[in-house]
Amino acid sequence: MSNGRKLEGPGPTQRLWLGFEKIINAVTTSEYNPFYYLGAIGIFFLWVIFISGIVLFIFYNVTARGAYDSVQYLTVKQWYFGGVLRSLHRYAAQGLIIAGIVHTLRCYALDRYKHWRWLAWVSGVILMWLIWIGGIFGYWMVWDERAKFIALSSARMLESIPLFGMPLSLTFASARNVTDEFFYIILVIHFFSLFVVFVLLLVHLSRITKSIVNPPKLLTYGLVFLLFLVSLLHPATSAPSADLKKLTQSVPFDWLFMFVFPMLKHMSAMGVWLLIVTFTLVISIVPWLTRTKKGPATVVTQKNCTGCELCMEDCPYEAIQMRPRTDSLPYELEAVVLEARCASCGICTGSCDYTAMSLPDMTEDYLKGEIRRCSRELKSVNGAKVLVFSCSKGAFEGKEIPGFEWARVLTLQCIGQLQPSMAAIPFEEGIDGVFIAGCILGDCSFRFGNIWLEDRILRHRPPVFKKSIDRARIRSVWLAAVNKRDFLKSLAEFHGELEGPKAKPA
Ligand code: HEM
Repeated sequence: MSNGRKLEGPGPTQRLWLGFEKIINAVTTSEYNPFYYLGAIGIFFLWVIFISGIVLFIFYNVTARGAYDSVQYLTVKQWYFGGVLRSLHRYAAQGLIIAGIVHTLRCYALDRYKHWRWLAWVSGVILMWLIWIGGIFGYWMVWDERAKFIALSSARMLESIPLFGMPLSLTFASARNVTDEFFYIILVIHFFSLFVVFVLLLVHLSRITKSIVNPPKLLTYGLVFLLFLVSLLHPATSAPSADLKKLTQSVPFDWLFMFVFPMLKHMSAMGVWLLIVTFTLVISIVPWLTRTKKGPATVVTQKNCTGCELCMEDCPYEAIQMRPRTDSLPYELEAVVLEARCASCGICTGSCDYTAMSLPDMTEDYLKGEIRRCSRELKSVNGAKVLVFSCSKGAFEGKEIPGFEWARVLTLQCIGQLQPSMAAIPFEEGIDGVFIAGCILGDCSFRFGNIWLEDRILRHRPPVFKKSIDRARIRSVWLAAVNKRDFLKSLAEFHGELEGPKAKPA
């Protein structure tokens, strides 16, 4: 249902993923579904790493001889405090890697990584490697047999780069070469990588408006509980102290951080580097490799713009900026759309009361015309008539619903595109009810379209729905693409209510 835009619903991969999340929703409810907060969960883990890291640093002895003993002291003698903190530090780091991997898979599976999201994607890839480097150096600091294994393996990899003159593994040929300065360098790299992660996060989130950086409270409490539980049941421990005279036998293996090293058994260090570089490059350019056509960016009709800033407030991807007025109209500011960042979701058109924001292939006039046309198509139907506004990523695709001849569906790119004045038109045309079907709150493909619309219906966010519209004649449901049955059930119930008690089944 569009001028020129072919609205695409979710594909098989997206449905598969959403089907899985539907199961999680049944357990946690959508409000606390951890899959909706993976980025925020990652940031929560980062804070745990940072805070526990500061306390661990106070007890850590930055010397070749003292490093192992100081960690051992914390783990064994001070298990109730330092030991728990050490475990929290390690498990939060592992949690961060897991959250990052699942977050990446989710963005990919739900097709949320291309076009305007490229910066978040590419910076995400770099973030993951930085987190990995930070973790590896964290394991070095313990200076146990595992650290020795990591040190020798990393040295083998580094010395394969012609930049290094002397083979680095010679450093580990004798304990005398492993100096206190060496431990200072490791500590600085470990700290610095976390610092760079925080800085890179700013880049990661730079084009995301009001990014969700904290999980809901209940979820946070759950994570804290889980971290403590694992830390107490399975405390992080060290391997025996590193002994450079001995050959490394088996070491406790952390696949999340050490996955690269076993490859050295099967290929040269240069081969491993090539694999890493190729993998990173391919993942980084995935948004371009799989690029599909995107709708045109929003166009501003300057003479209608009052500079109210609502569009800028509502845009999910920082694509709208305000600048001083360039014409003679008596307003201070005017809106400008940054084309490359525009998701073409139409949320800004939903927030504009003055027809200043417009999608060239789905203009407000066009949509209003469609609303009238659909409403008139239902004129001849007996009983209550319903106009459905649905989201292209939501629970229903199509114009007519078999068996529901009293309903017509108008699909929008995002439900947030629904401008309140549009919702009044069906009633002017003799329609009895307006049914709004958007995606699950907390999981809009364009981040906030459904939340903004819900707020408008409740008259909490301007522009608000008209007071004159009877609220009983508007029904909003928030469902995923895999909830078609719930969609049909809610629509039928709504229709039944509009028909009155007579029509309701006994
Ligand atoms: C583990 C480190 C990471 C953290 C802490 C993190 C954090 C976040 C946060 C807080 C958001 C904003 C969520 C929102 O408000 O809607 C976000 C969005 C995003 N992240 Fe990450 N991220 C991480 C890693 C990654 C990785 C590895 C990738 C991909 C390679 C990635 C790709 C994205 C994309 C594409 C978005 C935009 C999603 C959307 O527009 O719906 N992130 N990230």
